[in-house]
Amino acid sequence: MTKNAWAVSRRTFLASSGMATIAMALPAWANIPPTTREYRLVAKPGETRLVGDSHPPTAVWSYDGTVPGPEIRVRQGERLRVAVENRLAEETTVHWHGVRVPNAMDGVPHLTQKPIAPGDTFVYEFDLPDAGTYWYHPHQRSFEQIGRGLYGPLIVEERNPTSVDRDVTWVLDDWRLLPTAQISGDFGNMHDISHNGRVGNTVTVNGRLPDTFAVRAGERIRLRLINAANARIFGLEFKDHRPTVVSYDGQPVEPHEVAGPVVIGPAMRIDLVIDLVGNPGRRFRVTDTFYRSLEYRLLDLAYEGEPVRRGPAGPIARLDDNTMPEPNLADAERHEIAFGGGMMGSMRMAMMGGRQVDMREMMQSGMAWTINGVTATGHIHEPMLRLTRGRSYVLALANDTAWHHPVHLHGHSFRVVSRDGKPTRHREWQDTVLMAPKERAEIAFVADNPGDWMIHCHILEHQAGGMMGVVRVS
Ligand code: C2O
Ligand code: CU
Repeated sequence: MTKNAWAVSRRTFLASSGMATIAMALPAWANIPPTTREYRLVAKPGETRLVGDSHPPTAVWSYDGTVPGPEIRVRQGERLRVAVENRLAEETTVHWHGVRVPNAMDGVPHLTQKPIAPGDTFVYEFDLPDAGTYWYHPHQRSFEQIGRGLYGPLIVEERNPTSVDRDVTWVLDDWRLLPTAQISGDFGNMHDISHNGRVGNTVTVNGRLPDTFAVRAGERIRLRLINAANARIFGLEFKDHRPTVVSYDGQPVEPHEVAGPVVIGPAMRIDLVIDLVGNPGRRFRVTDTFYRSLEYRLLDLAYEGEPVRRGPAGPIARLDDNTMPEPNLADAERHEIAFGGGMMGSMRMAMMGGRQVDMREMMQSGMAWTINGVTATGHIHEPMLRLTRGRSYVLALANDTAWHHPVHLHGHSFRVVSRDGKPTRHREWQDTVLMAPKERAEIAFVADNPGDWMIHCHILEHQAGGMMGVVRVS
């Protein structure tokens, strides 16, 4: 019986019998069923002031009328039940990015569920074994649905949280706006698909064009960064401050300062602990320097009010590990996965819909990318890999293109064990690994979650353009 089926049957059991019987039948820890947190999300069109009050509001698609959607905040070990009502004019689903859910709750249209039709409601329900910073978003035509504002943060608090003065979430997004402050409707155009995706012209933090972020001298904040952009990669520099990374993609890592900008690709999360060491009244820029010669000021940290403390806040503790099993590298089975295609690449031919086609024919069908030579035209596929449940695997990912790709695997977190053949310093757990052009990365994990799982680039135009596939665990 899977862990999840167990939780469901236990609840039914509780409902139908007395506590006394259970106390005799089950071990002590099982007497307490996980608390279930219930939410309701309505996906619908709305309007929001993305660029401030001096401009007209922007028409968006949203959860509950806000961008980002409501922050779902639960405790590690709890169970989440979310009823999602679709009031859009098209089908949708919700994917719980980074959460190791049972396959039927993964929100992949056709592969794991029937898409939610307009007017319908679907109830997602799953346990949250791991703490961390996650997010939710549609997996149906996500290049447009996410691009129009459908996404929200999902925060799972640690049983033993790290001690900070403030816990802050910044959901970063990037929009392509017209001078009217409306979203440009050119979703899924071939130029975006075949180059670096839909990089826009307006960056928001928590759905607003930011100006300042108020801080107090001496404060220690935990800053949860979530990149909800279709395609923009951020490289954040905090002038005269030294952020410490405490987790990647929700998974704890040895606390360390990063040399240079904090780089965060689409769908990735980074939790930083920042000590506000400036003096009251001062301002410090946060700039995004990722794209050369396109640097801009994201916002200013503005020191206001009385200092919270004088002097250092003490060492930053490592967060408790989550519950992923440790892959056994000595005994792991190894597979290679090559990512190909795009402009300025060397790819000439690919398999599309079971036929060999050339790049020109691919592009005429709106496709530009491949995984292991196959361009995916939908969510359902012959699995490119069949993994045995419980075994350790190393996947050697090769970016054979001239572009960056944040590659996401569903249903699992993996350790990034090497880059370009060199062991990584922190062997970080991630669910999305950003690969630079021509870069190689090896990821390792135990295939412990049964089902058909997507692996795809999270530049949503690359995904739509064929860079996705299915890995089966059974
Ligand atoms: Cu964030 Cu397959 O998705
Ligand atoms: Cu990509």
